[in-house]
Amino acid sequence: MVRVLIEEMEAYAKENKIPIMLPDGIEFLENYIRKNKIKKILELGTAIGYSAIRMASISKDIQIITIERDQERYQKAIENIKKAGMQNQIQVLNQDIMDFNTEEKFDLIFIDAAKSQYIKYFEKFSFNLIKDGVIISDNLNFHGYTKQETRIESKNLRQMVGKIKNYIEFLKENKEFKTTFIELGDGIGISEKL
Ligand SMILES: C[S@@+](CC[C@H](N)C(=O)[O-])C[C@H]1O[C@@H](n2cnc3c(N)ncnc32)[C@H](O)[C@@H]1O
Repeated sequence: MVRVLIEEMEAYAKENKIPIMLPDGIEFLENYIRKNKIKKILELGTAIGYSAIRMASISKDIQIITIERDQERYQKAIENIKKAGMQNQIQVLNQDIMDFNTEEKFDLIFIDAAKSQYIKYFEKFSFNLIKDGVIISDNLNFHGYTKQETRIESKNLRQMVGKIKNYIEFLKENKEFKTTFIELGDGIGISEKL
Protein backbone atom coordinates (compact mmCIF):
# COMPACT_ATOMS: atom_id res chain seq x y z
CA MET A 1 0.00 0.00 0.00
CA VAL A 2 2.69 2.52 1.03
CA ARG A 3 4.86 1.23 -1.82
CA VAL A 4 2.19 2.27 -4.35
CA LEU A 5 1.87 5.68 -2.69
CA ILE A 6 5.65 6.14 -2.83
CA GLU A 7 5.65 5.38 -6.56
CA GLU A 8 2.79 7.86 -7.06
CA MET A 9 4.72 10.51 -5.15
CA GLU A 10 7.83 9.91 -7.26
CA ALA A 11 5.76 10.37 -10.41
CA TYR A 12 4.05 13.50 -9.01
CA ALA A 13 7.41 15.01 -8.04
CA LYS A 14 8.84 14.36 -11.50
CA GLU A 15 5.80 15.79 -13.26
CA ASN A 16 5.66 18.89 -11.06
CA LYS A 17 9.44 19.40 -10.81
CA ILE A 18 9.48 19.00 -7.04
CA PRO A 19 12.96 18.18 -5.76
CA ILE A 20 12.81 15.01 -3.67
CA MET A 21 15.73 12.82 -2.62
CA LEU A 22 17.39 10.73 -5.31
CA PRO A 23 16.92 6.92 -5.05
CA ASP A 24 20.40 5.98 -3.79
CA GLY A 25 20.41 8.94 -1.37
CA ILE A 26 17.13 7.97 0.28
CA GLU A 27 18.18 4.31 0.42
CA PHE A 28 21.38 5.32 2.17
CA LEU A 29 19.40 7.43 4.66
CA GLU A 30 16.97 4.57 5.35
CA ASN A 31 19.86 2.16 5.99
CA TYR A 32 21.55 4.67 8.30
CA ILE A 33 18.32 5.08 10.32
CA ARG A 34 17.83 1.31 10.51
CA LYS A 35 21.44 0.55 11.47
CA ASN A 36 21.62 3.27 14.13
CA LYS A 37 18.13 2.58 15.52
CA ILE A 38 17.13 6.21 15.11
CA LYS A 39 13.73 7.06 16.58
CA LYS A 40 13.31 10.85 16.72
CA ILE A 41 13.88 12.89 13.57
CA LEU A 42 13.64 16.59 12.74
CA GLU A 43 13.44 17.15 8.99
CA LEU A 44 14.06 20.62 7.54
CA GLY A 45 12.31 20.69 4.14
CA THR A 46 9.27 18.42 3.70
CA ALA A 47 8.23 19.16 0.11
CA ILE A 48 5.37 16.66 -0.44
CA GLY A 49 6.34 14.33 2.42
CA TYR A 50 8.28 11.80 0.33
CA SER A 51 11.41 11.39 2.48
CA ALA A 52 9.37 11.70 5.70
CA ILE A 53 7.08 8.84 4.66
CA ARG A 54 10.02 6.68 3.58
CA MET A 55 11.80 7.29 6.89
CA ALA A 56 8.64 6.66 8.95
CA SER A 57 8.01 3.40 7.03
CA ILE A 58 11.11 1.86 8.62
CA SER A 59 9.51 1.42 12.04
CA LYS A 60 6.31 2.37 13.85
CA ASP A 61 8.52 3.68 16.68
CA ILE A 62 9.93 6.47 14.51
CA GLN A 63 8.59 9.97 15.19
CA ILE A 64 9.22 12.83 12.76
CA ILE A 65 8.69 16.57 12.90
CA THR A 66 9.09 18.06 9.43
CA ILE A 67 8.89 21.70 8.30
CA GLU A 68 7.66 23.16 5.00
CA ARG A 69 6.85 26.84 4.32
CA ASP A 70 5.24 26.42 0.89
CA GLN A 71 1.46 26.17 1.37
CA GLU A 72 0.74 23.96 -1.65
CA ARG A 73 3.51 21.47 -0.84
CA TYR A 74 2.49 21.44 2.81
CA GLN A 75 -1.11 20.55 1.83
CA LYS A 76 0.15 17.81 -0.47
CA ALA A 77 2.36 16.43 2.31
CA ILE A 78 -0.61 16.35 4.72
CA GLU A 79 -2.66 14.52 2.09
CA ASN A 80 0.09 11.96 1.44
CA ILE A 81 0.75 11.34 5.13
CA LYS A 82 -2.97 10.75 5.65
CA LYS A 83 -3.02 8.30 2.72
CA ALA A 84 -0.06 6.49 4.30
CA GLY A 85 -1.92 6.40 7.66
CA MET A 86 1.11 8.00 9.34
CA GLN A 87 -0.50 11.00 11.05
CA ASN A 88 0.54 9.58 14.43
CA GLN A 89 4.19 9.36 13.31
CA ILE A 90 4.73 12.49 11.19
CA GLN A 91 3.91 16.04 12.25
CA VAL A 92 4.19 18.63 9.46
CA LEU A 93 4.64 22.29 10.37
CA ASN A 94 3.73 24.95 7.81
CA GLN A 95 6.23 27.69 8.68
CA ASP A 96 9.68 29.02 8.02
CA ILE A 97 12.38 26.79 9.49
CA MET A 98 14.12 29.74 11.16
CA ASP A 99 10.90 30.56 13.08
CA PHE A 100 10.70 27.08 14.59
CA ASN A 101 11.92 26.94 18.17
CA THR A 102 11.85 23.89 20.38
CA GLU A 103 13.51 22.44 23.45
CA GLU A 104 12.99 18.90 22.13
CA LYS A 105 15.99 16.68 21.41
CA PHE A 106 16.34 14.56 18.26
CA ASP A 107 18.52 11.59 17.29
CA LEU A 108 18.76 12.86 13.72
CA ILE A 109 18.33 16.24 12.07
CA PHE A 110 17.96 15.98 8.31
CA ILE A 111 18.72 19.21 6.43
CA ASP A 112 17.12 19.34 2.97
CA ALA A 113 15.82 22.90 2.47
CA ALA A 114 17.20 26.24 1.18
CA LYS A 115 20.84 25.48 0.32
CA SER A 116 21.99 29.05 1.07
CA GLN A 117 20.87 28.71 4.71
CA TYR A 118 22.57 25.45 5.68
CA ILE A 119 25.10 27.00 8.08
CA LYS A 120 22.29 28.89 9.87
CA TYR A 121 20.18 25.73 10.15
CA PHE A 122 23.14 23.73 11.45
CA GLU A 123 24.04 26.33 14.08
CA LYS A 124 20.44 26.83 15.21
CA PHE A 125 19.45 23.17 15.54
CA SER A 126 22.68 21.48 16.67
CA PHE A 127 21.48 22.28 20.24
CA ASN A 128 18.47 20.05 19.61
CA LEU A 129 20.57 16.92 19.15
CA ILE A 130 20.95 14.17 21.73
CA LYS A 131 24.50 13.45 22.94
CA ASP A 132 25.39 11.03 20.12
CA GLY A 133 23.11 12.68 17.57
CA VAL A 134 23.73 13.23 13.88
CA ILE A 135 23.00 15.94 11.33
CA ILE A 136 22.61 14.69 7.77
CA SER A 137 22.72 17.24 4.94
CA ASP A 138 21.59 16.58 1.37
CA ASN A 139 22.62 18.20 -1.96
CA LEU A 140 26.26 18.90 -1.12
CA ASN A 141 27.23 18.24 -4.74
CA PHE A 142 24.43 20.50 -5.97
CA HIS A 143 23.94 18.61 -9.24
CA GLY A 144 27.71 18.29 -9.65
CA TYR A 145 28.34 22.06 -9.57
CA THR A 146 30.36 22.03 -6.33
CA LYS A 147 32.89 19.76 -8.07
CA GLN A 148 33.02 21.73 -11.33
CA GLU A 149 36.49 23.12 -12.06
CA THR A 150 35.49 25.59 -14.79
CA ARG A 151 33.85 28.97 -14.05
CA ILE A 152 30.05 28.91 -13.73
CA GLU A 153 28.53 31.56 -16.02
CA SER A 154 25.30 32.38 -14.13
CA LYS A 155 25.92 34.77 -11.22
CA ASN A 156 23.05 33.39 -9.11
CA LEU A 157 24.20 29.83 -9.59
CA ARG A 158 27.80 30.81 -8.82
CA GLN A 159 26.68 32.42 -5.55
CA MET A 160 24.59 29.41 -4.59
CA VAL A 161 27.46 27.01 -5.30
CA GLY A 162 29.75 29.32 -3.29
CA LYS A 163 27.41 29.04 -0.29
CA ILE A 164 27.36 25.25 -0.44
CA LYS A 165 31.16 25.19 -0.71
CA ASN A 166 31.30 27.44 2.38
CA TYR A 167 29.02 24.98 4.17
CA ILE A 168 31.31 22.07 3.23
CA GLU A 169 34.30 24.03 4.64
CA PHE A 170 32.27 24.85 7.76
CA LEU A 171 31.60 21.13 8.28
CA LYS A 172 35.24 20.18 7.70
CA GLU A 173 36.46 22.75 10.23
CA ASN A 174 33.79 22.06 12.87
CA LYS A 175 35.53 20.59 15.94
CA GLU A 176 32.31 19.46 17.63
CA PHE A 177 31.26 17.19 14.76
CA LYS A 178 32.98 14.65 12.57
CA THR A 179 31.61 14.83 9.04
CA THR A 180 31.82 12.04 6.49
CA PHE A 181 30.98 12.95 2.89
CA ILE A 182 29.15 10.32 0.89
CA GLU A 183 29.04 10.37 -2.91
CA LEU A 184 25.47 9.11 -3.19
CA GLY A 185 22.35 10.86 -4.42
CA ASP A 186 23.25 14.56 -4.76
CA GLY A 187 26.05 14.32 -2.17
CA ILE A 188 25.35 13.67 1.50
CA GLY A 189 27.14 14.87 4.64
CA ILE A 190 26.92 12.80 7.83
CA SER A 191 27.94 14.99 10.77
CA GLU A 192 28.24 12.97 13.98
CA LYS A 193 28.41 14.85 17.28
CA LEU A 194 31.68 14.15 19.08
C1 LIG B 1 14.54 19.55 -1.50
S1 LIG B 1 12.92 19.90 -0.95
C2 LIG B 1 12.64 18.72 0.31
C3 LIG B 1 12.54 17.31 -0.22
C4 LIG B 1 12.15 16.27 0.79
N1 LIG B 1 13.03 16.24 1.93
C5 LIG B 1 12.15 14.90 0.12
O1 LIG B 1 13.25 14.37 -0.19
O2 LIG B 1 11.06 14.35 -0.09
C6 LIG B 1 13.18 21.37 -0.02
C7 LIG B 1 11.91 21.99 0.55
O3 LIG B 1 12.29 22.93 1.55
C8 LIG B 1 11.37 23.99 1.55
N2 LIG B 1 12.02 25.12 2.18
C9 LIG B 1 13.09 25.83 1.70
N3 LIG B 1 13.43 26.79 2.57
C10 LIG B 1 12.57 26.70 3.63
C11 LIG B 1 12.42 27.43 4.83
N4 LIG B 1 13.23 28.44 5.13
N5 LIG B 1 11.44 27.07 5.68
C12 LIG B 1 10.61 26.03 5.38
N6 LIG B 1 10.70 25.31 4.25
C13 LIG B 1 11.67 25.63 3.37
C14 LIG B 1 11.05 24.20 0.07
O4 LIG B 1 9.81 24.83 -0.10
C15 LIG B 1 11.10 22.77 -0.48
O5 LIG B 1 9.82 22.22 -0.61
